[in-house]
Amino acid sequence: MRAAMAAAEVGDDVYGEDPTVNALEAEVAALFGHEAALFCPTGSMANQIALQLVVPPGAELLCDADAHVVTYEMGAAAAYGAITSRTWPAVGADVDPDVVAGMIRPDGYWAVTTRAIAVEQTHNRGGGGVIPLGTLRRLRQIADAAQLALHCDGARIWHAHVADGVSLVEYGSLFDTLSVCLSKGLGAPVGSLVVGSAERIERARVVRKRMGGGMRQAGVLAAAGRYALAHHVDRLADDHAKAARLAEAIAPYGVLAGPVRTNLVPLDLTKAALDAHSLAAAARAEGVLVSVLGPRTARLVTHMDVTDTAVDRAGTVLAGILRA
Ligand SMILES: Cc1ncc(COP(=O)(O)O)c(C=O)c1O
Repeated sequence: MRAAMAAAEVGDDVYGEDPTVNALEAEVAALFGHEAALFCPTGSMANQIALQLVVPPGAELLCDADAHVVTYEMGAAAAYGAITSRTWPAVGADVDPDVVAGMIRPDGYWAVTTRAIAVEQTHNRGGGGVIPLGTLRRLRQIADAAQLALHCDGARIWHAHVADGVSLVEYGSLFDTLSVCLSKGLGAPVGSLVVGSAERIERARVVRKRMGGGMRQAGVLAAAGRYALAHHVDRLADDHAKAARLAEAIAPYGVLAGPVRTNLVPLDLTKAALDAHSLAAAARAEGVLVSVLGPRTARLVTHMDVTDTAVDRAGTVLAGILRA
């Protein structure tokens, strides 16, 4: 990947003249069967650009209460897009389309108009859960019937593709806009893309520049992304297997929050002696990193830089702490 970055041909991407960025954008658009894509520095920016494309100021986005777009993006939809958000109760990947349908408010002058629905695939705070294809198809029907846009925060959509065997084109066909990340399981240092129609991506280019995301010789970064797509998608199955093995090692301590579908292991410490901060501190002291999500919830992640040996060691360390 570093060699590909060093060898990248570059130009000024603000003028659309970086050949490596252009190639990456064309590749990702084609992967999802869409007309165009736009390279962005982060997944948060890609999400927020997409939301501004599909929800006008003063209108409403529906998503779940644990969605990254309303949890970790610093209120950007409101701050930059003047977008109102209304959430259904957090259920991770277990979305009930009827609940979503029941929340839609039609166009009118007496209540905020719903203009888009966003889902997260895989679901981060939902423990890497995968929304089933049937649920997504149903949401597409609901969005069509109400003339709403459907956005996918697909930061880890590659994991869903590998876990459920659903093609990226199939996923792409269900959404008006997607944001996808190269910098998580795929192992690139930086980079996400907004995917959509040519008309939307043309507008996205303006929004990106407005948000300070117009980069110049970004081809060095796009080259890493192209390398990641070419070499690191199918191997995600290894990370999923490692997460399952890690989960198995700590399962006897009653801390698994749910089934492990991908590379995330969600922990529920309600019945444990330790809270999430104490577990994370004890594990860190032994070289194992644990993400704290809440007072009694935490997350473990496997990725390409975590070896099988390291996974086994993490399992032993965590089991030792939980047993004590
Ligand atoms: C589901 C999801 N969406 C979006 C993002 C945002 O990505 P970034 O950190 O590149 O802004 C993340 C980051 O963890 C994520 O988990």
